[in-house]
Amino acid sequence: MRTRYNAGITALGGYVPDHILTNHALEEMVDTNSEWIVSRTGIKERHIAIDKNIATSDLAVIAVERLLANAGLDKAAVECVIVATSTPDYIMVSTASVVCEKAGLTNAWGVDSNAACSGFLYALTLGASLIESGRYTNVIVIGADKNSAIINYEDRNTCILFGDGAGAVLLEQTTEDFGLIDNVFRTDGSGKEQLIVQAGGSKNPSSMETVTNKQNYISQNGRVVFKAAIEGMTQTCKEVFRRNDLVADDINWLVPHQANLRIIQSVGDILDIPIERVKINIDRYGNTTAATIPLCLWDYKDDFKVGDKVMLTAFGAGFSWGASYLVWGKLRGQ
Ligand code: UT7
Repeated sequence: MRTRYNAGITALGGYVPDHILTNHALEEMVDTNSEWIVSRTGIKERHIAIDKNIATSDLAVIAVERLLANAGLDKAAVECVIVATSTPDYIMVSTASVVCEKAGLTNAWGVDSNAACSGFLYALTLGASLIESGRYTNVIVIGADKNSAIINYEDRNTCILFGDGAGAVLLEQTTEDFGLIDNVFRTDGSGKEQLIVQAGGSKNPSSMETVTNKQNYISQNGRVVFKAAIEGMTQTCKEVFRRNDLVADDINWLVPHQANLRIIQSVGDILDIPIERVKINIDRYGNTTAATIPLCLWDYKDDFKVGDKVMLTAFGAGFSWGASYLVWGKLRGQ
């Protein structure tokens, strides 16, 4: 009989730039106030790469270096790197190529995956599938975004929300019963106008006109996205529960995409998972798009115990959304 392989997370790394953009600093930039931001979003501060030479790949490379140091893994052993990002260094040349070069991962092939805030979840499943196929033994999956590159700091609807950051996980092959178990994913392009960067791609290449009209920045219809996020995340989590005979009490940790504290609380409430079992770091980082979930896993890695049942869920531009269920395994060095 063919051996069944699972893909387990065995090491993590994370990084946010040093510079902190506080709510009070934003008060000086747009018509907003810290009390509104905290009460409507839960965000107290976010980290921004103010050095113009820093690209998304630079954030990702530091996360990878931290991961490799934690793992005690030889760089030559890394076979594949998947970078989830919607702020790639370039339109052409994948950010994964740059990351592999800068991090010295000379034996790995790399590819990007763009599904905005759901990007890390999707990339995690792509990486896990490579391992489950039996053809790969270790894959690094990164969620990284330099959102400050596509934020209009004159638009109070968006500039208060986003931060920069990167998180990375090492997926390794195992025949033990842990790792990524199941996921339910959805995409619906009819939601694309609700959260979008209109220009800079092939549909609407960058021009003087797009720059003047500020179409190279994120625009969002927050109320529509807010409702769709709660609906999408809870429905896909429930579907994963059903498929795996799980009830809320079985779940040790819910690790949701960090877009808005009120969304996170609502998802926890609807799923009946008490807030003590929901991982939250939006207060410190804001929404780092593809990086929120791996940064949360990195931040709270000491809380996760072998055998813990963990639900990951995300919603983002596209629309794209979904939920993944994993059983936590042993980290390298533990
Ligand atoms: O990660 C991808 C997915 N993204 C999300 O999940 C984000 C989803 N959306 C949200 O998180 C929320 O919709 C926002 C945080 C973006 C906005 O919060 P809201 O509670 O939905 O506010 P709203 O857009 O309904 O606006 C309420 C009021 C408005 O004033 P009026 O019309 O009631 O007088 C806005 O003009 O708040 C005003 N407002 C602000 N006030 C101070 C909007 N932005 C600000 C601001 N500071 N930054």
